[in-house]
Amino acid sequence: MSLRLLSFLIVFGCFSVTAQEGTLKVNQDRLESQIFELAKFGIQENGETERVAFSDADVEAQKWVMNTMVSLGLETNIDFAGNLIGRRKGKDSSKKPISFGSHIDRVPNGGNYDGCVGSMASLEVINTLNENNIVTEHSLEIMIFSNEEGGVMGSRALAGHLGKDALKVINSTGYSMGEGIMRLGGDTTRIADVTRQKGEIAAFLELHIEQGGILEKENLDIGIVEGIVGLKWWDVEFTGFANHAGTTPMNSRQDALLAASKFIIAVSETANSFEGAQVATVGKIKAEPGAPNVIPGKVVTSLEIRDLSSDIIEKVYQAIKTKGEEIAKASNVQVEFRALDTTADPAIMTSSFQDAIGTSAERLGLSIKRMPSGAGHDAQDMALIAPTGMIFVPSKGGISHSPKEFTSAEDMANGANVLLHTILALDKKLE
Ligand code: HGY
Ligand code: MN
Ligand code: MN
Repeated sequence: MSLRLLSFLIVFGCFSVTAQEGTLKVNQDRLESQIFELAKFGIQENGETERVAFSDADVEAQKWVMNTMVSLGLETNIDFAGNLIGRRKGKDSSKKPISFGSHIDRVPNGGNYDGCVGSMASLEVINTLNENNIVTEHSLEIMIFSNEEGGVMGSRALAGHLGKDALKVINSTGYSMGEGIMRLGGDTTRIADVTRQKGEIAAFLELHIEQGGILEKENLDIGIVEGIVGLKWWDVEFTGFANHAGTTPMNSRQDALLAASKFIIAVSETANSFEGAQVATVGKIKAEPGAPNVIPGKVVTSLEIRDLSSDIIEKVYQAIKTKGEEIAKASNVQVEFRALDTTADPAIMTSSFQDAIGTSAERLGLSIKRMPSGAGHDAQDMALIAPTGMIFVPSKGGISHSPKEFTSAEDMANGANVLLHTILALDKKLE
């Protein structure tokens, strides 16, 4: 008699698993080696990897993940938004799929773990199920979202709110989102067709590195995300007058960079002046014409604001905008704020999924903490169309968006095991 026939139900809380499934573990070494394999796409001479969305490295990495999916027996396709989807049929075709995944694109000068852990762990979950001949009731669907770092593009398209203006936003590769989608195998003319309606996906789960230092500091294994911050981006353009840096007296200059500098300080001071955990950042600046002997006539900075409440984001923005206008007036320059179509709304994670993640972790002997996410994730857009949960694993030193980003193989495997067992528990519980 097979182990599967001998298996019996263990009931814990409102979820149940078979004995065989209860002891399942992913292969830690295999997961770690896949992380290293993925890091080869875009590797530079200094050993660090560059893989911004739409770059050749991103396109090549997407192909490699697709081939890996095929070798695991998944049915694959790239949707019109450039998302890579891999499907594994379940026993009951009337049930909606359980979806999970993350992203493989990176910020410039980023690390090997942000998005990559959730993506490689999703493949490892399938590998583990295959090896143990386990077929779930629901079909399983891995989603490798396109251009997460440029405004959760792929997941926004799936949730049906990637506006036309978003397609014009250009990232550091020089490609616009529209061009990037075509490079990834999507089709901008049919992008509306990728939208999934509420109820089409039974569950969405994302495993991700914490990107902060709380789990490590408190010596905890697993974070259960309660909510994800919303974030908004603007371009802020200061227009002065480019003139000779040697002949223009100090009191008759229209120096756009000087105004922008004062603005950058005001952004930090204004965000700090409110109670709460909101954050505001200027992360990018471009001065024109950009010569030592020319007074800068035009400067464009980025502005990003994040919080768990959209109202607070708006309140902080209005205060920053007022400050920027005052600074511009006093500096004899013009300022214009242009909202970019990259907004991610704050999202609350499904409470029964938080419980399911906690139960799975505790059964694996792992310690847990419920926490908010200060980073944006594809899960926040998926939460608009499906019940959604998110699992965090520790980031060494709380460092992320840096080549120094690191998560140990053991922590990655812990997260993958929690992902696996949460999928199995939801498979039994959900209709
Ligand atoms: O920017 C973010 O929060 C995320 O890492 N994409
Ligand atoms: Mn990131
Ligand atoms: Mn990420």
